[in-house]
Amino acid sequence: MQSSLTQSVETISATPEPRRLSERVATLQQVLPLALLALVMFYQVTRQLIFPARDHPAMFAVEFLAFGIGAPAALWVTLSWIGQEIRARETAQDQADTRTRMLLEMQHRIKNNLQTVADLLSLELARTKSPDAAQSLRDSVTRIKTIAAAHELLTADQVGATDIVALAERVSENARLAQAHPGQTIQIRVSGEPVRLQSKAATAFALVINELVSNTLEHGFANVAKGEIEIGIAADDARPNAERRAYVIVQDSGVGLRDGFDAQRDAGLGLRIVRTLIEKDLRGVFSLTNGALPDLPTLGARAEFSFPLT
Ligand SMILES: Nc1ncnc2c1ncn2[C@@H]1O[C@H](COP(=O)(O)OP(=O)(O)OP(=O)(O)O)[C@@H](O)[C@H]1O
Ligand SMILES: [Mg+2]
Repeated sequence: MQSSLTQSVETISATPEPRRLSERVATLQQVLPLALLALVMFYQVTRQLIFPARDHPAMFAVEFLAFGIGAPAALWVTLSWIGQEIRARETAQDQADTRTRMLLEMQHRIKNNLQTVADLLSLELARTKSPDAAQSLRDSVTRIKTIAAAHELLTADQVGATDIVALAERVSENARLAQAHPGQTIQIRVSGEPVRLQSKAATAFALVINELVSNTLEHGFANVAKGEIEIGIAADDARPNAERRAYVIVQDSGVGLRDGFDAQRDAGLGLRIVRTLIEKDLRGVFSLTNGALPDLPTLGARAEFSFPLT
């Protein structure tokens, strides 16, 4: 018995493709001028039969040339020109569709390959005895999965660009699931207007959000039962002569940065990754301070960054 998948593949391949507009115009180009010629001949012959003496033969010849030959020829040329225009558009559309399919396929494969790398590292992690090595492997797995999530959204979303609000939701939720302690209630709110980024910038953005949220969970919420993280994303309106920028705030309700925290001196690998990605890949600026959520009196850590959208 055939599987339903094979059947549906056969059904799809058996379904005739709808005729393209250019093919319909080509058919009209063959039929309409001939039909017009036949009509004119019919009219002229009928008129000659009914009023044989009315027209001078020369007049008849001129009329026949004009309406019987000229009009169908003009119609043929016009339809041929329209057909060429439509064919050119169809070809351009076909090429764009092929590029889109290839891009989607590429993003899909990149995501799968990254997933495989993450799985291999997870196997390594299961064998590791040293807690330090295990922590490093866990961090690497989360970072690789974050890049995979960015590529997955690039596949699902508008081709080649992804909405970073959705990306921030996905990445922060992944980090929460991977790192929140059992029994801890962590609420993450992501708000903002849709901002679209291309593949490289979207990946950098995803990694930054992953590091910032991971830091909150690891340092800010180490010993708390309840915590809130607010991620806000905003974009400038495009103004003449000014570059459009995106502004991102990641604010938590945790214990905050310790007294005398120095962003340069105290940065570990996580914050160095954050700074490098924001400055190099996003051409932006980054700051980390203590701040408060609007409706909460406690001071937590507040990371802010902005970058141009062009
Ligand atoms: N949200 C936060 N709340 C409190 N302290 C923070 C927060 N984010 C960062 N820090 C402080 O900044 C330091 C550096 O963070 P960073 O991410 O660079 O390194 P790490 O988290 O210690 O290690 P890793 O390289 O695994 O990320 C942390 O050790 C912590 O003291
Ligand atoms: Mg960190």
